[in-house]
Amino acid sequence: MCGIVGYIGTQQAAPLLLEGLARLEHRGYDSAGVAVLGSGLRVAKKAGRVRDLSEDLPKRFTGKAGIGHTRWATHGPANDVNAHPHVDGKGEVAVVHNGIIDNAASLRQRLTDEGVDLVSDTDTEVLAHLIARSAAETLEERVAEALAAIEGTYGVAVLHAEFPDRIVVARNGSPLIIGVGDREMHVASDLGALVRYTTTVAHLDDGEMATLTATGFTTYRQDLTRVQRTATQVDVDPASYDAGEHDSFMRKELLEQPAAAERVLRGRLDERFGTAHLGGLNMDARETREIRRVKILGCGSAYYVGQMGASLIEELARIPADAEAASEFRYRNPIIEHDTLYVAVSQSGETIDTLLAVQEIRRKGGRVIGLVNVVGSAIARECDGGIYLHAGPEVAVASTKALTNMFLGFALLALQLGRVRDLSIADGKRLIAALTAMPGQLQEILDGEEHLAEVAQGLAQAESLFFVGRVRGFPVAREGAQKFKEISYRHAEAYQTSELKHGPLALISTAVPTVAVVPDDELTDRNVGALHEIAARGGPLVVVTHAGVDLAGLGVQRVDVPRSERELDPILLTIPLQLLAFHAAQALGHDIDKPRNLAKSVTVE
Ligand code: AGP
Repeated sequence: MCGIVGYIGTQQAAPLLLEGLARLEHRGYDSAGVAVLGSGLRVAKKAGRVRDLSEDLPKRFTGKAGIGHTRWATHGPANDVNAHPHVDGKGEVAVVHNGIIDNAASLRQRLTDEGVDLVSDTDTEVLAHLIARSAAETLEERVAEALAAIEGTYGVAVLHAEFPDRIVVARNGSPLIIGVGDREMHVASDLGALVRYTTTVAHLDDGEMATLTATGFTTYRQDLTRVQRTATQVDVDPASYDAGEHDSFMRKELLEQPAAAERVLRGRLDERFGTAHLGGLNMDARETREIRRVKILGCGSAYYVGQMGASLIEELARIPADAEAASEFRYRNPIIEHDTLYVAVSQSGETIDTLLAVQEIRRKGGRVIGLVNVVGSAIARECDGGIYLHAGPEVAVASTKALTNMFLGFALLALQLGRVRDLSIADGKRLIAALTAMPGQLQEILDGEEHLAEVAQGLAQAESLFFVGRVRGFPVAREGAQKFKEISYRHAEAYQTSELKHGPLALISTAVPTVAVVPDDELTDRNVGALHEIAARGGPLVVVTHAGVDLAGLGVQRVDVPRSERELDPILLTIPLQLLAFHAAQALGHDIDKPRNLAKSVTVE
């Protein structure tokens, strides 16, 4: 949440900062700002998008060192004053900050009592004043002293007019990556903002700081003792961070799903022994056999796919498994069991609630693995092992291809866990054949987009909708409702089909459509029975199902998906729901990649 960029070198900083901010905008898009150091410190900031800031940037906004920020508001509304960078009273110090300063209220009071005039509602502003008021000799000491006074999470970058040859940055809970160029240095909260300029990068760890000058960087802990961080080359195609010919990242990422699915499966299926090979789990067969329970933790869509994953593990490995919202987990003082395998699932690898859950488990001696997309991210590094998802960069706030690869990651995990237990080699081979067919089946669903776009036009007109499913289909319905509300802003409520008659059926009317997930499985008859109850009350129905499921007499709009093995069907049933959400949002004219009030990567609690 929120994006940071910084540059120091031989070029004018402002255009580079604005370009970097545009690439980070999915992390927060209610306001943006930049500060540059030329003949003095200059700041420009504005509520709205980065393009609004670019259009309004004063002429001759020159300087070869600068920092920039794109904001997702936490303290105070999105307006020009609350936008970052924040400066001290004399306009000598500029600070951009990601994260939350928990003791901001007491620090604000202290500064106000000391006569400081605070102009914004933000927590960050105190940091600029604390640095400006430090009497320490070096900028590094001043920043370290200010950080020692604050409690909370941060990625920060600081410019100071007295020290024009440097940018000082610090990290505690919010990522910062240093990019090494030719006589220039970059810093950003996300690799995507750097890769246009350099692929030689160094990651800061929590509790670390760095000084960037035009010729290099030094890293140290917050007590200013040196720590060695070496820059390494990352293997990344800068074009993968562009939308290319697509008018939105979400559309691009939806269409990339078959290729992404191939990548997560590649080299991990063992057809001979009907199993999966997941070397990154760091567990041998004996340790794997000792697992008595699996607990999956994630947030939002990652939580819902975690529920799909729990079903897969129970069905294939016959190990009791469940998923829980990581945001709630640590607040109930969870019992951590040594024979439970904890699984953290996250696209970004940065979601603070999931990261804190991982830390709680490890603090209590539990074993936790990660299903993570972003290589080297905080959650990936914190876990005892894991499965990288190889979905490629996901920029749209609404997660699609990463979610699909999470499901496939769970399928691989379930297969490996199952095959050291009671899953037969024949069943293993059956599932491998189904997994191998999956990229082609994903493509088949995407090819049916036109029909889904038509169905979505109708759904977009409804103020309120139900998404229903049972057992394996229920997390599918939850994810469908999540995607729909996230980008169409319609009220979309997920329910177990079986629970409708226990209350929510009262809401069914001709104005409230239901999107029902009805696979051809052991529950089809019961599901169809519930559809009749909805139809009898005039509720319009869209049914995502398999060819051959008899829906005669219901007057539904049906969407057939290809069949997989029953255990793997949930992900194929999910894809049409992604497309329905996309096309409904498009019909309503929404900014699909930047839904209101949201941001990619939730790095604040
Ligand atoms: C998905 O469409 C959402 N934007 C959101 O629920 C997301 O899945 C959640 O915030 C978790 O993110 P993560 O996978 O990066 O941890």
